[in-house]
Amino acid sequence: MRILGVDIGGTGIKGAIVDSISGELLSERHRIPTPQPATPNAVADTLKQLVDHFEWRGPVGCGFPATVHHGVAQTAANIDKSWIGTNAAALFSAATACNCVVVNDADAAGVAEMAFGAGQDRSGVVILITVGTGIGTAVFVNGELLPNTELGHLLLGDTVAEHYASARVREQQDLSWKKWGKRFNTYLQRLEFLFSPDLMIIGGGASKKFDKYVEQFEVKSEVVPAQGLNQAGIVGAAMYALHEFGDDSNS
Ligand code: BGC
Repeated sequence: MRILGVDIGGTGIKGAIVDSISGELLSERHRIPTPQPATPNAVADTLKQLVDHFEWRGPVGCGFPATVHHGVAQTAANIDKSWIGTNAAALFSAATACNCVVVNDADAAGVAEMAFGAGQDRSGVVILITVGTGIGTAVFVNGELLPNTELGHLLLGDTVAEHYASARVREQQDLSWKKWGKRFNTYLQRLEFLFSPDLMIIGGGASKKFDKYVEQFEVKSEVVPAQGLNQAGIVGAAMYALHEFGDDSNS
């Protein structure tokens, strides 16, 4: 089933038409900068532009950088605070005149990595960590997702992990990959202590630079880069929409 998959991030809103069963992209990706401030109405308008770009009328799956409970955003670490309590699914559906489902962005990326990427056929405890403006996590037990985990907000000492080791922090503080890798190792060690994972998958832009920092890791768990590159969020959001709306379209 063809679905428009969308990844709403702190700096860009990216979308592509996805075959939600095979995970293949059926179109080029299109990216529109995230409006600033990223208020609900401004983001909804941008999503409408993306939908119009694809002349899309079918279902839309959106990954969103917050915890999302039954379509309602519950947190707003890196987006406008007015999102808290907003029914994002209802807002986006009204703005685009398409059926929209909204889920946490890391959960979306995790679902795609488990189905088609580095987590394929992996049982036990798997944690996907997306490294971007913030740090997002998706936790799986024998392939089953525990939704809305917010392990990017774990405290390392008295510092929130994503304020210490996100991609944004690396760029802002101009950290070398080695320095950032040491910071990220501290974070992985904390996750390992708390969850004894069988596998940790590093996603987001940092997945492409894995070789530059992997030597800094001192953890017993297996750690690998995500395979979906920057597409996992888009593909996973589309898979969610397939799950929500079912395969009853003729597209
Ligand atoms: C948010 C998460 C999100 C992550 C990645 C964090 O700041 O709290 O919900 O998954 O950023 O975007």
